[in-house]
Amino acid sequence: MRAIAIVLWGVLWLTVWLQEKKPGEEKAGVEKTAGNSSKLVNPVKTSPESIAQGKKAYGFDCAMCHGKEGAGDGDLAESMHLKLKDYRDASALKDLTDGEMYTVIMSGKGQMTGEEGRMKPEQVWNVVNYVRSLAKK
Ligand code: HEC
Repeated sequence: MRAIAIVLWGVLWLTVWLQEKKPGEEKAGVEKTAGNSSKLVNPVKTSPESIAQGKKAYGFDCAMCHGKEGAGDGDLAESMHLKLKDYRDASALKDLTDGEMYTVIMSGKGQMTGEEGRMKPEQVWNVVNYVRSLAKK
């Protein structure tokens, strides 16, 4: 009788332990998303200076695909047959946070190559601010 009680007690503790372990794992997942690109905060406030800096860099590195005005009609996009969004349309980038945009510009996506190592982080944020400004017109 006593042996059974001890086994039951052991099983009980095992269940409690396993149940406690689960929320812990979920917590770790939350911490992971906290470091996610969408949570990256733009440290460069948008300003006429930042937008002007971003515009310059955009003209050199982005306009050949995304177009001078952000319409997605750059020469390279045409020759590569890329279908790009029109950044003049405010809804085009509404689901993308500044942090996500920063990550796309740094790391690239699909047929777009990233600027990592070529553009300084601050300059990338200026470009983010510039791309945002395209939609306001
Ligand atoms: C070779 C052409 C090319 C160049 C140069 C380029 N992009 Fe892109 N970009 C793309 C393509 C193609 C996508 C879509 C990628 C996908 O979703 O597969 C894209 C996606 C993006 C996105 C994500 C939102 C969206 O439109 O899907 C942003 C933001 C962006 N580009 C900004 C930039 C900026 C800023 C630069 C300059 C630093 C740049 N791109 C340079 C081709 C280019």
